[in-house]
Amino acid sequence: MRDFRTIHEIAKAARRQLDDNLWDYVLGGADAEAALRRNRLALDALQFKPRVLNDVSNVATETTFLGKAMRLPVVLAPLGSVQDLAPGGGVTAWAAAQTFGAAMLLSSASQPDFETVAAAPAPAAANAAGFPPCRVYQLYLVGDQAWMDDIIERAMAAGYDAFCLTVDTAVYSRRERDIAKRYVPSSGRRADGGAFGSLGAVDFHAQARMTWKTVEHIKAKFDIPLVLKGIQRGDDAARAVACGVEVVYVSNHGGRQLDHARAGIDALPEVVAAVQGGATVIVDGGFMRGADVAKGLCLGADLVGMGRVTALALAAGGDAAVVRALELVEEELRIVMALLGAARLEDLTAELVEPATPLPGDGKPLTDLPLIAEGY
Ligand SMILES: Cc1cc2nc3c(=O)[nH]c(=O)nc-3n(C[C@H](O)[C@H](O)[C@H](O)COP(=O)(O)O)c2cc1C
Repeated sequence: MRDFRTIHEIAKAARRQLDDNLWDYVLGGADAEAALRRNRLALDALQFKPRVLNDVSNVATETTFLGKAMRLPVVLAPLGSVQDLAPGGGVTAWAAAQTFGAAMLLSSASQPDFETVAAAPAPAAANAAGFPPCRVYQLYLVGDQAWMDDIIERAMAAGYDAFCLTVDTAVYSRRERDIAKRYVPSSGRRADGGAFGSLGAVDFHAQARMTWKTVEHIKAKFDIPLVLKGIQRGDDAARAVACGVEVVYVSNHGGRQLDHARAGIDALPEVVAAVQGGATVIVDGGFMRGADVAKGLCLGADLVGMGRVTALALAAGGDAAVVRALELVEEELRIVMALLGAARLEDLTAELVEPATPLPGDGKPLTDLPLIAEGY
């Protein structure tokens, strides 16, 4: 494993590992990619207002999620086709989560299936830092209610800590980088032409039929925390809380679904105000660094999801590189917190950020930015 010193180095190593199809599948978005760019632009359009002369000799980044201790307020976002990025696919991502002490959301559009991932032997370094494993199963509905109920029961039996519905994917978007190359990601490919993920069922229109009744049904029938991923409005967030949903996950799917959707960080304050502390709030979309995580927490998120950072690290060096990426984000977050005068995560509040005028390069993904360390 290379000794990666920056997230940039991980991104560059991933570029060398991935062919053009996979690189564009990972980095691309829907349609004109406005939502994709807006995720970064909205994060870049916030600047810090640090407090000085606070004792920050002991900065703590630990938090809790689903009742479990977490080393960092970061979760590994669900990734379809993860098996194309690193040998072992979901098992490799799960090994990284256990080694570092982070929660992982496993996508049903990935291989191997959720029961195989759950049964995989824990890596030698699992739990070494004293953080218990935490995994969430994210399902795309590709069958009817009886089919879904069976999956939820099996996910509970397999030891998943929570169940997640992705609610921003009523239909699959047009990802023009893939379309232009006639590339179909492996999660969408099967001999019978219709399958999605590892589950064998083929009715992707079930996602389009999903409603709040589906949420109410799950909450009434099953005793497992529920995550709704892809909430982008305060009223939907309030409705989720009223349904008893435990985790509201603010996301525009990394700009991969509705183009021109608002950035995760822009939707966050409205959602946090609507949730009123009634659920855990996660946000994602463009978060690639410790400073980005700090901004998300300042605006009220409990945790931040990272999709492309996880994907790039998996490609760059499997589970070891994901652990390294998380270590780098942790180190960056500690430094940012100390310089903000925030010794604890609760000290990250909205008074520490304000709108900023854009700088040249703002809104570009980290992978496009010059590497200062390489003397560009
Ligand atoms: C390659 C890739 C595959 C993804 N697959 C899924 C998926 O199967 N289910 C899902 O809910 N979100 C999926 N997402 C969205 C991520 O979970 C997350 O919301 C998004 O990547 C966050 O933005 P970021 O990549 O800028 O961190 C995927 C994202 C990427 C980059």
